[in-house]
Amino acid sequence: MPTKVEKDAVTGTETTGHEWDGIKELNTPLPTWWVYVLYASIAWSIGLFIVYPSFPGITGYFSGVVGYSAREELADKMRVAENIKAPFLDRIRATSLDEIRATPDLLGYAVAGGRVAFAENCAGCHQAGGAGAKGYPSLADDDWLWGGKLSDIEKTIRTGIRGTHPDTRTSLMPRFGTDGILDRRQIDDVAEFVLSLTTRPADPAAVERGRAVFVENCASCHGERGTGLREFGAPSLADKVWVFGGDKPSIVRSIAEGRGGVMPAWNDRLDPAVIKMLTLYVHTLGGGE
Ligand code: HEC
Ligand code: HEC
Repeated sequence: MPTKVEKDAVTGTETTGHEWDGIKELNTPLPTWWVYVLYASIAWSIGLFIVYPSFPGITGYFSGVVGYSAREELADKMRVAENIKAPFLDRIRATSLDEIRATPDLLGYAVAGGRVAFAENCAGCHQAGGAGAKGYPSLADDDWLWGGKLSDIEKTIRTGIRGTHPDTRTSLMPRFGTDGILDRRQIDDVAEFVLSLTTRPADPAAVERGRAVFVENCASCHGERGTGLREFGAPSLADKVWVFGGDKPSIVRSIAEGRGGVMPAWNDRLDPAVIKMLTLYVHTLGGGE
């Protein structure tokens, strides 16, 4: 250990007294400002440690003197948001669909809420914006299976289609092939007739034979002219909009195997206000009646 401070001859700096093979260590301390910043940081961290939740315990944790919790903060913000929403939802619950439609601020709110609820609950089947996919009808056109009035749409959403709700919309397209109601040739003929309704080139002799099959077996649900009947959810076969495909193989399959799309009922799953908002949203997608 050095007894007195020794200075390095070249730099004039004090040495620490440590020496290895004649090489001495210079004593160059940290700048004072740096040391103070370090002490200040330590003091600050102790402060945070005391003020905010910090130390884990066996049954919980030290929650800090101000009792801050990010979860509580979120819950508070949610409560504020709910309080802002609540009067609107109450008004929507208490107002008829037609009245909401005639009240611009309420309609705007309902459609915006409906859009969010649609993305969450419906777009999985009906696609974004209700564009539809094979087997899942488009909700954005004016071609309706069950009706496009506000009351029709609301009923469809509440009770579903071919579902388990007691008032569900229901009907059955018979399985003409599977159940042996029509033979192969009759199915082919009536498919040719269906094709001819959308002015496709079709075999004229088969169309004539198919017309007779249609009148006897299909017109009761699809209408004399094949334009569909909503009371049965039977689609028009005379427009160019198809739920299950308008090429001949798809049409033959519809006839031979039957069709029966299932849509869940939302009555017990969604708040009545949300069902109303969805109804108004779907109604504004393009085909509302
Ligand atoms: C599991 C898939 C599925 C989900 C989820 C679903 N739907 Fe449907 N929806 C269908 C099917 C399939 C049909 C057609 C049933 C048929 O062929 O008659 C349909 C039909 C409809 C119709 C009637 C269309 C018409 O032309 O009359 C409306 C309206 C509708 N859905 C709205 C909704 C809304 C709103 C939601 C969300 C709350 C929703 N759907 C969620 C499958 C679904
Ligand atoms: C008892 C009523 C009923 C009868 C009878 C009936 N259909 Fe249907 N048909 C329906 C319903 C309902 C649908 C729609 C099913 C769905 O949406 O899931 C349908 C769907 C179809 C489709 C699919 C349409 C599309 O958009 O993809 C075709 C094609 C069709 N029917 C042809 C026929 C022909 C041809 C006959 C007679 C041989 C016939 N149907 C008899 C009720 C009927």
